[in-house]
Amino acid sequence: MITFDGEKGIFKLDTEDSSYLIALYNNVLYHLYWGKKIPEIKRSADAMFSLKGSSFSALDIGVKWGRSADIMPMEYPTYGAPDLRTPAMHLRYANGSSATALRYSSHTVIKGKPKLYGLPATYTERGDNVETLSITLTDEFNNIDVVLNYSVWYDYNAIARSTIIKNKGKEPLSVLSACSTSFDITDAASFEMLNLYGVWGRERTIERMPLRHGIQMIDSKRGSSSHNQNPFLALLSNNCTELTGDAYGINLVFSGNFAGGVELDGYNTARVFMGVNPFDFGYKLAPGEEFTTPEAVMVYSNQGLSGMSRSYHSLYRNRICRGKFRDIERPVLINNWEATYYDFNEEKIINIAKKAKEIGIELLVIDDGWFGERNSDAGYMGDWNVNIKKFPRGLSNIAEQINALGLKFGLWIEPEVVSYDSDLYRLHPDWCMHIKGRKSCLGRNELILDLSREDVCDYLISRICGILDSANIEYIKWDMNRNMSEIGSEALPADKQSEVAYRYVLGLYRILETVTAKYPNVLFEGCSGGGGRFDAGMLYYMPQIWTSDVTDAEERLKIQYGTSIVYPFSSMGAHVAAVPNHQLKRSTPFSMRGNAAVMGQFGYELDLNMLNAEEIEMAKLQVGFYKKYGHIMHTGDCYRISSPFDSDLSVIQFIASDKNTVLLNICCKQALPNAPFKRIVLTDLESDAVYVREDTGEQLTGGELCTIGIPFVNGDEHFSNILIFNKLIKN
Ligand code: GLA
Repeated sequence: MITFDGEKGIFKLDTEDSSYLIALYNNVLYHLYWGKKIPEIKRSADAMFSLKGSSFSALDIGVKWGRSADIMPMEYPTYGAPDLRTPAMHLRYANGSSATALRYSSHTVIKGKPKLYGLPATYTERGDNVETLSITLTDEFNNIDVVLNYSVWYDYNAIARSTIIKNKGKEPLSVLSACSTSFDITDAASFEMLNLYGVWGRERTIERMPLRHGIQMIDSKRGSSSHNQNPFLALLSNNCTELTGDAYGINLVFSGNFAGGVELDGYNTARVFMGVNPFDFGYKLAPGEEFTTPEAVMVYSNQGLSGMSRSYHSLYRNRICRGKFRDIERPVLINNWEATYYDFNEEKIINIAKKAKEIGIELLVIDDGWFGERNSDAGYMGDWNVNIKKFPRGLSNIAEQINALGLKFGLWIEPEVVSYDSDLYRLHPDWCMHIKGRKSCLGRNELILDLSREDVCDYLISRICGILDSANIEYIKWDMNRNMSEIGSEALPADKQSEVAYRYVLGLYRILETVTAKYPNVLFEGCSGGGGRFDAGMLYYMPQIWTSDVTDAEERLKIQYGTSIVYPFSSMGAHVAAVPNHQLKRSTPFSMRGNAAVMGQFGYELDLNMLNAEEIEMAKLQVGFYKKYGHIMHTGDCYRISSPFDSDLSVIQFIASDKNTVLLNICCKQALPNAPFKRIVLTDLESDAVYVREDTGEQLTGGELCTIGIPFVNGDEHFSNILIFNKLIKN
């Protein structure tokens, strides 16, 4: 899987379908290739680079090639000696300088993959096909080592990269930027960049643009990975479609400020990079200290975007998500938020629970408003005492009543924030993130607790455990409803204030690690005003995330489609809500709302007692369908056949992991008068296998389905259907 040919000067990292090559020449690392798998290389590294020199760039000291690092495709570029493009790493040394030139000093290859201390990352289990290459580079003048780690996930076609910077000198230094990954692809002028942008309610909208010369970047300065840009980008060949062409995905396993981008230079080399956002960042490394970057997961596919997504889906389902809920179908839930908002009491909740039980729902979640005097979002955050006006007999009693009805009980919390009007704030005004002496802006009437502080994290761990111990709680929705402002910590000196936002995320990870490890039987669902922190870092602790606060089926089809570029449907919380939809006032049929939601982690978010008899029967069928087929969408292979961004028609195909069942989820927004004839063409089925369409009994070959397809007429407003095809197994 990982080989090094010293004579040729080539590191070769192979996954099942891809190769990644690094050249080592004159002790400098160059990026040689990443793409379709190459069985064998006969040439040496120097024969594979063009000999054209630059007329203006300075030459590297001691590098005999005569080609400057300023024009060569580099593997982990640094600034100023003499590469002047966007560096992967930028350090400020005690003498004020920042020029760095890294030279190879050693490398190791081990079976498996070491843990990243304090950070979420892909993890191995016994029998995994993974090897890790660690290359140590040194700048002797500046007394630093930089270790580049590459874990090769052979079966998943992925490479996980992270970097460790070690200060071996006698003086402190500042890490101004440190990418998790960087590499240069030559001949990239015709490539395109894809990213997932958005805002609250419109998360992970797909955007694809041809590269232009210069830097194109995505980032978050919001303290969290954000609604606005997901920590993901893909470089695509210009002929890349959903099913064909080259796709190179880069995804950061991190929930805080990040930056990633592509710099296309005048030689048409694209430098691709991603890591912690260097903006307003600086991390002091005392002598002997080291800085470990978060992990970047890189996936190459020559089967287009869907091929890339399938690799991410299976890797994240199996080796980012953890715990017992990773491998089991999770409970169908009812959440009271859009049913009642803050206006609920014991009676209302019990009535919803009774109806839920009748429908076959398995878990009732009480959302925001169960504590303090919280009847709006005006305050009461931080103390977490049950509101005895709503639940006079306490939390444990309402949990018992729900349990007695045969449902599990779940609860919403937002532990990372505090209100001015709270005992917690009165007792510890210094515990929130702020700049001493300066008034802080409120977001949703909240201040953010300073999770860069150990004492605050310890307090939160004990408080959250206290809540979990106070009742039979089997599910937690962990929310976070604002971005950071006035970033500062009273616990850190002035020269470490630029570490606060980063240390916050490390603190959050420590809390999540401790709490989720202590309560392995509690299902945790992440949330941040919907999908404001939908990233692989969060999925390491919580196997599902509330995808968006927008519950309208049409919008959800888009949000889920965009999210599925990287993240599996099994990670997306998806609920049937009331109509007219609360955010958009749009009405969609109950069936379409169900068909859109069953792809994700299914639930309801409306007052079930407002449903009519027909809708109750439909809900029972939806839950029954989900219990029978949900696993196909959660563990099978996903193919995006028709995009709701490009047309009115959303079609997603899933092939079950045993390959015996195919599920086609079809939703169409609008009807057209006298609509044109259309065929939905399936993909990747065995062409000579026979499939039986479950609703009609019709027999079709895989070949027919993948060429002629299924006729579809766009004649019904809000048409939706799920077709199941079962492979005929010959005896
Ligand atoms: C956030 C969440 C919602 C809901 C509210 C409660 O906006 O995304 O689902 O929990 O908070 O205040």
